[in-house]
Amino acid sequence: MATLNDPPLAARDPEIWNLIKGEERREFDKIRLIASENYASRAVLEATGSILTNKYSEGYAGKRYYQGQEFIDPIETLAIDRMKQLFGAEHVNVQPYSGSPANLAVYLAFLKAGDPVLGLALPAGGHLTHGWNVSISGMYFNSRGYGVRREDHRIDFDEVRRLAHEHKPKLIWCGHSAYPRTLDFARFREIADEVGAILAADIAHIAGLIAGGVHPSPIGIADVVTSTTHKTFRGPRGGVIFCKAEHAKAIDKAVFPGIQGGPHNHTTAAIAVAAKEALAPEFKTYAKNVVENARTLAEELLSHDFTLVTGGTDNHIVLIDLTRNNVPGKVAAQALDRAGIVCNSNSVPFDQRKPFDPSGIRIGTGSVTSRGFGPSEMKRLAGWVREVVSAPEDEKLLARVAAEVRECCAAFPPPGIVVS
Ligand SMILES: Cc1ncc(COP(=O)(O)O)c(C=O)c1O
Repeated sequence: MATLNDPPLAARDPEIWNLIKGEERREFDKIRLIASENYASRAVLEATGSILTNKYSEGYAGKRYYQGQEFIDPIETLAIDRMKQLFGAEHVNVQPYSGSPANLAVYLAFLKAGDPVLGLALPAGGHLTHGWNVSISGMYFNSRGYGVRREDHRIDFDEVRRLAHEHKPKLIWCGHSAYPRTLDFARFREIADEVGAILAADIAHIAGLIAGGVHPSPIGIADVVTSTTHKTFRGPRGGVIFCKAEHAKAIDKAVFPGIQGGPHNHTTAAIAVAAKEALAPEFKTYAKNVVENARTLAEELLSHDFTLVTGGTDNHIVLIDLTRNNVPGKVAAQALDRAGIVCNSNSVPFDQRKPFDPSGIRIGTGSVTSRGFGPSEMKRLAGWVREVVSAPEDEKLLARVAAEVRECCAAFPPPGIVVS
């Protein structure tokens, strides 16, 4: 009998194996505050790393282009049914490879190249795919961006309405990557109706909060809703589109064959697992804690005299404006990283600095909540942020904070990671 040469990763490719182990250790030892990240559970990781990656399944359940779908069809159907149950949507497509392809499919389903689009501008907290000029969405469509009010940094609905009437968009986006407040989907609906636009809500950041019942849902209000599945939702890297039944055909056609080929079945299975986890009562507690942790952190940061965009938060995001601290966002983010606290520099509304070297840092509480941090860890965290931002070049201080962070993290092993 022939022996199969099929060694485990550690033996086949120790270079990659060691790098993965290094990343695992980093995710264990550091306080991860990047608002778009989380810790997927062991079950989600198992599905993601399964043999489903071997299978091609162009098409949809019952209508595939290849044979051998007797296990794939029920997997995709389960993922769809669970997402429908969780979000109360009429139609769900779980095939988008991620958030950006999901948004691209929306353009293809409803628009022709050159059509007018309106979305939250990137510097005000929007996403590239909502019409920003360096993205295909800004290059192939005639896009305009609305912003936030100068006085309180909340979405400027007067501007949304004015631009909608002026620009006559066929599609209006609501949704964000860096906006710490609840979205008023009904107000967007009103404006979309006034100008006859399709309303698309991108809930990539807040999907977990919506599933957990701590943020209002746009489903039933927006015509189409897109999301990633890996941020607060805590699933695999993937995308999903929800829509009203009347748009089901257009959306499915836009995803496949419009912009994609075969779905990533391993991801589809992991989305099904994540949806099952999100249907469990503990997920509601997680979502509530994500928001509570963000609020506690915001209050503590304010007590340390930091300036927060909008003065606080309603969701998982806290955006610190460091202009008054005289520390560029990048310098702060790099110093925090050396101290074991990982976040990203971020533009703040009306930023005087360039996008690559902006004035703020963005913090998200999804990952730390998944590992069990609560109010007392949020208080410690705010203290560490203050110390580091006050002396970003004091390497001795950064090393001391890093040691304290490591010790704190050791008491909160995150889901999906076992380190020896
Ligand atoms: C609001 C929003 N939409 C879409 C995306 C794109 O998702 P992906 O990076 O998975 O393509 C992001 C990513 O951060 C996002 O924040």
